[in-house]
Amino acid sequence: MTAQLIDGIALSRQLRAEVALRTQALAARGHTPGLAVVLVGDNPASQVYVRNKVKACHDAGLHSVLEQYPASMSEAELLARVHALNEDPSIHGILVQLPLPAHIDAHKVIEAISPLKDVDGFHVGSAGALMVGQPGFKPCTPYGCMKMLESIGYSPKGRHAVVIGRSNIVGKPMAMLLLAANATVTVCHSATPDLAHHTRQADIVVAAVGRRNVLTADMVKPGAVVIDVGMNRDEQGKLCGDVDFAGVSRVAGWITPVPGGVGPMTITMLLVNTLEAAERAAR
Ligand code: GUN
Repeated sequence: MTAQLIDGIALSRQLRAEVALRTQALAARGHTPGLAVVLVGDNPASQVYVRNKVKACHDAGLHSVLEQYPASMSEAELLARVHALNEDPSIHGILVQLPLPAHIDAHKVIEAISPLKDVDGFHVGSAGALMVGQPGFKPCTPYGCMKMLESIGYSPKGRHAVVIGRSNIVGKPMAMLLLAANATVTVCHSATPDLAHHTRQADIVVAAVGRRNVLTADMVKPGAVVIDVGMNRDEQGKLCGDVDFAGVSRVAGWITPVPGGVGPMTITMLLVNTLEAAERAAR
C-alpha cells in the first residue's frame, strides 16, 4: 500500500483564503483582527517563527505587531507589556514566543495573558476549557491536526487513536481533542515499555516526540492515518519528522509529510484563533 498524502500546504492555502474573506468582512465593520507577537531575546529559531507568523497575518489581512525585546528584559517589564496588550482594543490575540530567557517564569507570563486573547491556547483556563468541553482557544498544532483529519473526511468517532508524546502544547491537548471527537485514545510517552504494541492497534497515530524514526513501518497497522508533528534534522541537516516517512508511507493509508504537513497548519490555526477572538470581541 502507498499512503495518500495529507497536504498541509494546500489545506492551509484554502483555510487562509477563508480567514482572509472573514477578516475582510469584519474589517468592513471596523474590527480588523489584531495579533501581538512578543519575542524576548535573540533565539534564531524563534526569530524565524515570529517572522513567519507576522507575515502570515499580513498576507491574510490581519493587523499584527511584533514587539522585540532584549534578553535582559525583566519579568516585571514583560508582565507590564502583557497587561497593556490585554487592555489594547486593537489587539485580539497575544502570543508570547517560547522559550523565554531562563530568568523569566514562562508560566507566570502565560497566565497573565487574558484568556479572551490567548490565541496560543496555552493558558490554564484554555487547557481547562478544552478538558471540560467549554468554549476556549485550542492550541494551534493539535487543532491543525484535527483539521487535517477533517479534510480527508476521516471521523475519529469509534476509532482508536494513539498519541505519542504528552507535552502541554501538543500531546495532551491532542488527546483531549480526539477524545472530544469520540475516539478511544491512548497516550504513549518516554516511559511506555512497548510502544509498538500500542501503535499497531491504532487507526490514527499522532507522533509528537521530537525525535527521528520514533514510528517505523513495522509499528503501523495497514491503512492507518499517520500524523507527524515532529520537526527534526537528519544527518544531512534536512528537515524531517518523527516518522520514518519512506517506510511508513508503504503501510499507512494516509500520512502527513515533513515539511509541508502539520507545520504550516500551526500558523494557519493561529490566524483562525485570532480571527475568532476578534469576531467574539465584535459581537
Ligand atoms: N515556541 C514554539 N512553538 C510555539 C508556539 O506555537 N507558540 C509560542 N508562543 N511559542 C512557541
